[in-house]
Amino acid sequence: MTAIEKLSSEESVSIFEKHVIGNYRRYPVNLVRGSGSRVWDSEGREYLDFFPGWGCNLLGHCPEKIVSAVQRQVEKLIHVPNTWHMTQQGVWAQMLNERSFGGQAFFCNSGAEANEAAIKLARLHQGGERFKILTFQGGFHGRTFGALAATAQPKYHAGLGPMLAGFSYAPFGDLVAAERRIDGATGAILVEPIQGEGGVQIGGAEFLGGLRRLADEHNLLLIFDEVQTGCGRTGDWFGYQHFGVEPDMLTLAKSLCGGLAGGALLAKTEVAQSLVPGMHASTFGGNPIAAAAGIAMLETIEEEGLLERTKQNAELFANWLSQLQDECEQIREVRQVGVMIGIELEHDASEVVAKCLEQGLLVNCTQGNVLRLLPAMNISESEIESGMQIFAKAVRDFCATLVIPGAAPTTTPANDEPDQKTEHGEVAEQLDQAAEDDEVVDPDYPEESDASDLEEEELADDKVLEEDEAAEGEEEEYEEEAELDDGDDEFEEDELEEDDSEAALG
Ligand SMILES: Cc1ncc(COP(=O)(O)O)c(C=O)c1O
Repeated sequence: MTAIEKLSSEESVSIFEKHVIGNYRRYPVNLVRGSGSRVWDSEGREYLDFFPGWGCNLLGHCPEKIVSAVQRQVEKLIHVPNTWHMTQQGVWAQMLNERSFGGQAFFCNSGAEANEAAIKLARLHQGGERFKILTFQGGFHGRTFGALAATAQPKYHAGLGPMLAGFSYAPFGDLVAAERRIDGATGAILVEPIQGEGGVQIGGAEFLGGLRRLADEHNLLLIFDEVQTGCGRTGDWFGYQHFGVEPDMLTLAKSLCGGLAGGALLAKTEVAQSLVPGMHASTFGGNPIAAAAGIAMLETIEEEGLLERTKQNAELFANWLSQLQDECEQIREVRQVGVMIGIELEHDASEVVAKCLEQGLLVNCTQGNVLRLLPAMNISESEIESGMQIFAKAVRDFCATLVIPGAAPTTTPANDEPDQKTEHGEVAEQLDQAAEDDEVVDPDYPEESDASDLEEEELADDKVLEEDEAAEGEEEEYEEEAELDDGDDEFEEDELEEDDSEAALG
């Protein structure tokens, strides 16, 4: 063991606190090793991971075929610039295009970058006048300025204005509102087929098909952000195939390289032609190692029949969850496509994450009250079984502590494991304490304003509206010829304010 490998969790955390910028709220666990759906910390404690790599490790931790593909590649060629051809990148693009709509690929390193590429390509393709992009409330497209402006969630804009001009927002699922926001300056629609961070909100065939129709009628490009839904999670290669609605562009990242950094934009060939040399680039995009991993990812899914297995695993999760929903009336809704699962509770549910961690299970909570599971496609039946026992007990126990007027607290069924104080107890106690102190938030989105504070939320909403107004002003400057109907704009802004105050968007 090297000196670094010998550091304890406590020592590692203290190095972090001193030397790493604190823009993430991190759990007090230092992970050192993973295999499949299991992961271990510095002290050798084992965790079953129902949220591996925040959706990136779709084949679990360190999948064998990806590890060996990377090992082989790293000995031959680590990086060459995109001024040269490299076999792996071309073959990877071919494989992605053959499994999607047969267009062409641009490679980058992350989801935000893939969306930036899509935004630029949309503007380039539509010409200077049709620069506006319609996106949806509750969506999440990344943290760079273009992707952030596309993300219609006020809390992520707070303090960062002015936003990039040229975005308008509609409620997710509302076709009428979407159509109302389309004007002469609109060139594209960008949407997640299933909103991930927004709480696993499923767009559905009707809404997505309606967007396709609007795009066709108004000559808009339809862009699907499949950063979270992509590469097999839904039981199909891409989320759009699940709903039978084809986009003109598609963005991918997260699981694309089986856990290594990688992103891609897929575009229909006639659209892709508008991205000419000099207009966009990414130094590390499509590098040989990412490409080798990306190829191995697609091959593994095929060779191991994982699309089919995902559908079977999805059923197992669905059975557990429908039983749990029958038992706990505090579960408002279970939303699931393949192994993308959201369980919406009536109350803030971050405590359930702590309860699961105490029992050695890693899960996530988004939007305050949606428990999110993004398990690996190759998770075993017995892992689903043991993880869901822990999860179900944590949810039941949590729900039993909630007082619902007129309802008796739910009871723990007799077949449940007895409440055990496990080796994970210490960490969970800290998390419990943190949850009580309102400290634990989604570590990917740590700088959110306090969602429970209505006043602050309203302030943030007002800020976005101001920015929206500023953006509209700029658009008008840029866009002398665009015929923007003032009355209609005012209506849109009024409506945005109302929409933002609605709790359920999808
Ligand atoms: C749908 C979606 N798009 C884009 C992103 C941004 O990806 P990245 O963090 O790789 O930039 C995310 C990240 O969670 C996402 O879920």
